[in-house]
Amino acid sequence: MEQKIKLTEDQVNSFRIKTKEDLEQYRLQFISKKGVIATLFEELKSLSAEEKKLAGKMLNDLKKLSEEKFFLAQEAFESTKLSASEDIDLTLPVTPNKTGSYHPLNLTRYRIIEIFERLGFNVEDGPEIEDDWHNFTALNFPESHPAREMQDTFFIEKNPDILLRTHTSNVQIRLMKDRKPPFRAIMPGRVYRNEAISARAHCFFHQVEGLYVDKNVGFSDLKQTLYHFTKEMFGKDTKIRLRPSYFPFTEPSAEIDISCLICHGQGCNVCKYSGWVEIAGSGMVHPEVLRHCNIDPEEYTGFAFGMGIERITMLRHRINDLRLFSENDIRFLKQFKATY
Ligand code: DAH
Repeated sequence: MEQKIKLTEDQVNSFRIKTKEDLEQYRLQFISKKGVIATLFEELKSLSAEEKKLAGKMLNDLKKLSEEKFFLAQEAFESTKLSASEDIDLTLPVTPNKTGSYHPLNLTRYRIIEIFERLGFNVEDGPEIEDDWHNFTALNFPESHPAREMQDTFFIEKNPDILLRTHTSNVQIRLMKDRKPPFRAIMPGRVYRNEAISARAHCFFHQVEGLYVDKNVGFSDLKQTLYHFTKEMFGKDTKIRLRPSYFPFTEPSAEIDISCLICHGQGCNVCKYSGWVEIAGSGMVHPEVLRHCNIDPEEYTGFAFGMGIERITMLRHRINDLRLFSENDIRFLKQFKATY
């Protein structure tokens, strides 16, 4: 059939249009009323119905291809003509398009979410202005317990107390009170503490809370989940260590350390020469906390964890001063990725 057409895509494609004269030659040869394509359409009439169908399609495709090439080339010549007449220097570099970049804390937050979403965790949200019950009492901080002292914050109202939440653990309570188990969620957000601002502390920072409550959830689930997380987040050679600790809302409780990414366990000022850096608090949800949320601890168990987004970002990007995150210095911010 192609022999009957006597024209191929290659012939159209290989015609070089470098000058306006070439363009005119091309037009005459392919597009004009006396050009090859028009002539071939004439010849089509002499073919059998069967042949006409196939050859017609091929010819139409060729017509489209050759016309597209013509219009593109024509347009290119027209736009250069315009530039030349306006005396524009086409070799000048273009003004870059300033797109901005993601805040490093957001980059870390997105990455954490990505890792946990693949493990089946939902993302949940809760209020930053919270009452005493959700921030402390339901989490098993007895009134006047010293643990409350460690989380002094800013009070909006006293008696009953309305405050800026000291951690994202309040979202655990809101989730468990409002819905029925099982729960598998992470809860990122901003938290507040009444602390003097320094390179290592700030009056606000960010955490990601995690909660997994179901039948038969054990400490091994906690360990494996966080083990998987650290490998994904910091690389497969990262080691993890669980250190016994105390939180009123978990029993047993553990602090999660990872091997120092800066000195790889050799000892440096980031890990205070211990080779380990703490990244999260964790533990098995205290039965009393479940009871406060009307969940039967005989039927359900769960683990929880809370990690600092600033701390993880500082480790990831070797940042040594917490204040950089909130100073909005463009020289700092523009070092991070513009796309995620
Ligand atoms: N809320 C704790 C804090 O801000 C962190 C934490 C520790 C959260 C253990 C948890 C947990 O969910 O299980 O210091």
